[in-house]
Amino acid sequence: MPLITLGIESSCDETGVALYQMGCGLLAHALHTQIAMHSEYGGVVPELASRDHVQRTIPLVRQVMREAGVSLDRISAIAYTQGPGLGGALLVGASVANALAYALDIPTIGIHHLEGHLLSPLLSDPAPEFPFVALLVSGGHTQLMRVDGVGRYTLLGETLDDAAGEAFDKSAKLLGLGYPGGPALAKLAASGRPGQFKLPRPMLHSGDLNFSFSGLKTAVLTLVRQSDNDEQTRADIACATQEAIIGILAHKACAALAQTGLNQLVVAGGVGANQLLRNRLAEDVGKRGGKVYYPDLQFCTDNGAMIAFAGALRLAQGQGGKSYRFNVKPRWNLAEITDR
Ligand code: KG4
Ligand code: ZN
Repeated sequence: MPLITLGIESSCDETGVALYQMGCGLLAHALHTQIAMHSEYGGVVPELASRDHVQRTIPLVRQVMREAGVSLDRISAIAYTQGPGLGGALLVGASVANALAYALDIPTIGIHHLEGHLLSPLLSDPAPEFPFVALLVSGGHTQLMRVDGVGRYTLLGETLDDAAGEAFDKSAKLLGLGYPGGPALAKLAASGRPGQFKLPRPMLHSGDLNFSFSGLKTAVLTLVRQSDNDEQTRADIACATQEAIIGILAHKACAALAQTGLNQLVVAGGVGANQLLRNRLAEDVGKRGGKVYYPDLQFCTDNGAMIAFAGALRLAQGQGGKSYRFNVKPRWNLAEITDR
């Protein structure tokens, strides 16, 4: 009987559901993004996020089952995002997963959201092979990890303050752009003139693999206040901001490859969708004889496929069970799930 894992992601503003079959791959996946709903408020409103997940999760489960032609009795386990994320939002996925699994008498497994992102490039073809360096760049996280296998993660460096996605989002807000700021800022930057403004690159030469982005945000604020508010100037500032953030990420990612002696870089998380980052890494890592791997664009941001996939890999290791507890972990360090 082939093992089919249902995956549910609900940690923030996306409800993602997918079915993954071991030995066969992704059978179906579906996503509902709440971006339009939150954009009115300039950021995610946690209570609205939870309520929306409540309405979306079960219809999405039905949708992927229909698309894959899989009935309930063929699902062998359910994986859900246990954390980190918004408490209420996580509880929705955890409740649906555990209640459904209890009714079906099958195991559940709680997945660390970042592990989902870390392993998501393995869903693509060609996939990287262990070991590799992963650059995790999302709205809440900026980390460089060494990945030796499923559950074998070593933190190489991380942000000491804001995440890279947050730097994009906050700078975009200062430029009067909507939420989410990353894609909006990248779009505006495309009509900017490179080199018109120069922004600091905090910790570029710190000698370690840590990041800091909060000073950059302050520099953008100062620049916005001192400059004209015409479209070209705003585009020039967006261009300089993107250049600074991407410059730091590319520099530290290459330093991580040099430090570990590895030549495969995996980029995961929403900022991985950024085209300048992709171009810069292709050039810089290529020069070193290395290769960069990305999840498919649709799996760069939050999605259910990465949770179903990570769940399937964890279940294959014998993890998961039938305890059906709703203990979500809004704050959860990746080191806690790392096998030593
Ligand atoms: O991984 P993700 O979907 O959600 C989590 O934070 O877990 O990442 C979202 C982040 C946001 O900060 C968004 O602005 C950023 O990824 N982002 C981008 C781009 N697309 C999404 N940042 C820069 N350029 C993009 N094209
Ligand atoms: Zn994410």
